[in-house]
Amino acid sequence: MALKKLVAGNWKMHGLSADLSEIEAIATAARDYPNVDVALCVPAILIERAARAVPGFSIGGQDVHDAEQGAHTGCTSALMLLDAGASLTIVGHSERRDAQRESNEEVRAKAEAALSVGLDVILCIGESFDVRERGAAVDTVTAQLDASLPPSLEGEAELAVAYEPIWAIGTGKVPTGPQIAEMHATIRARLRARYGADGTHVRILYGGSVKPSNAGEIFAIADVDGALVGGASLKAADFIPIVAAAAAVEGQGTIA
Ligand code: PGA
Repeated sequence: MALKKLVAGNWKMHGLSADLSEIEAIATAARDYPNVDVALCVPAILIERAARAVPGFSIGGQDVHDAEQGAHTGCTSALMLLDAGASLTIVGHSERRDAQRESNEEVRAKAEAALSVGLDVILCIGESFDVRERGAAVDTVTAQLDASLPPSLEGEAELAVAYEPIWAIGTGKVPTGPQIAEMHATIRARLRARYGADGTHVRILYGGSVKPSNAGEIFAIADVDGALVGGASLKAADFIPIVAAAAAVEGQGTIA
């Protein structure tokens, strides 16, 4: 059974007060597509204002600390995200795995911390270009996934996994359909091995240069349950056509 698609925007380090109107525009337009879940992950400092501006629309964080509280200067706890009005958070984005040297173990702890307070989680994994060129993409992503996943899925909060090849992020390059299908099928198998039947309900998102022009094709691939969208999520004019593409694919068959 196909899962309801999730299209989440990752605003990265973009967004000031002046951009709240764009968030409002996205939230308003997203209401036309009730068969798709839509969310925006914005800078931590914008979460509270965004959540107030668009009640009922999902606003998320982009990272979370794994500790409940304490001496962690500059960090944000899961409860703080929730308290500010977030309903989800990204963890393990490749930009943080790289620049902040986040390990799989840290990513797993962050995912567990977020899920434990009721925040949905989008856990990112993906290979570098070198790894893809060496033919080691599937093995590398599998190892990353196995070490980053929380041990069990308990509680109400939902886990999603985002497959984001690093070489596709912000580059305009996208893997071929068969490459995406192969990776998503592998991730699905690992999720089933880890969580049993619950593993079939974990949404697997694709991320990396998703645009209005390629979204329909990507959403039609088996086990692509949505997208994590960076650059094209900043403007309603780019993001909403991606949501519409997800809505159009709902109910149609997928390509294995
Ligand atoms: P992009 O970013 O859509 O701009 O490639 C995706 C991401 O980093 O989540």
